[in-house]
Amino acid sequence: MNNLNHLAIIMDGNGRWAKKRNFLRQKGHEVGANVVEQICEFCTDQDIKILSLYAFSTENWKRPKREVEFLMDLLKKFLISKRENFIKNGIKFTTIGDISVFSNELKDEINLLKSLTHDNTKLKLNLAINYGAKDEILRAFKRVSELKLELNEQNLQNCLDESECIDLLVRTGGEQRLSNFMLWQASYAELAFSDTLWPDFTKDELAKIVENFKYKNRRFGGL
Ligand code: IPE
Ligand code: IPE
Ligand code: MG
Repeated sequence: MNNLNHLAIIMDGNGRWAKKRNFLRQKGHEVGANVVEQICEFCTDQDIKILSLYAFSTENWKRPKREVEFLMDLLKKFLISKRENFIKNGIKFTTIGDISVFSNELKDEINLLKSLTHDNTKLKLNLAINYGAKDEILRAFKRVSELKLELNEQNLQNCLDESECIDLLVRTGGEQRLSNFMLWQASYAELAFSDTLWPDFTKDELAKIVENFKYKNRRFGGL
């Protein structure tokens, strides 16, 4: 049976969920953000150690200004509202992606939550914000060079925002693509695609996907 150490999820379908109900896209993001808590709960129950969630890509800046602003505001509210929950449940909050571009106010909230949860060991939650795999790999190359390390696979991997490879990568919302998410870490990930739009995603559906993952024959190029 396969061990699930690192689960990654591309949380897609918020806009379509809202559109179907004649709501503004923003409503989909709001409802979608509330799903995260039960997914974290599932991970801690199942003893999954790393959860990487794709929340905002380096390409999502192309969206209308009002949607981007709403998402930044929602992120700030999320960081504040989850504080107690993360502390109580042993969740270590961290981010992947280049956060240097965010407002000082947002960076302060991010750093506060990181420091408050720094010593937690039950689950590491990587929130991918202003995240793009190409950007991450490029920054890793720069870091290898700054540190004057030999350029090899292990050193480059260690300089990524997250160096643990993904075991299972789930994408909701019906599209079957990676959209620049964790390309390096997903090199041998099992992939699962769900048509469910992210705000409707539940831990019961995730449980079924995980159950299916456990019995996959992962060969890693061997026999
Ligand atoms: C995912 O949902 C959340 C973000 C990318 C911020 P979308 O906003 O992409 O929703 P759809 O794909 O348009 O339905
Ligand atoms: C990927 O979804 C990014 C996140 C889920 C944050 P997108 O909705 O941006 O991806 P594309 O544009 O459909 O590939
Ligand atoms: Mg989308």
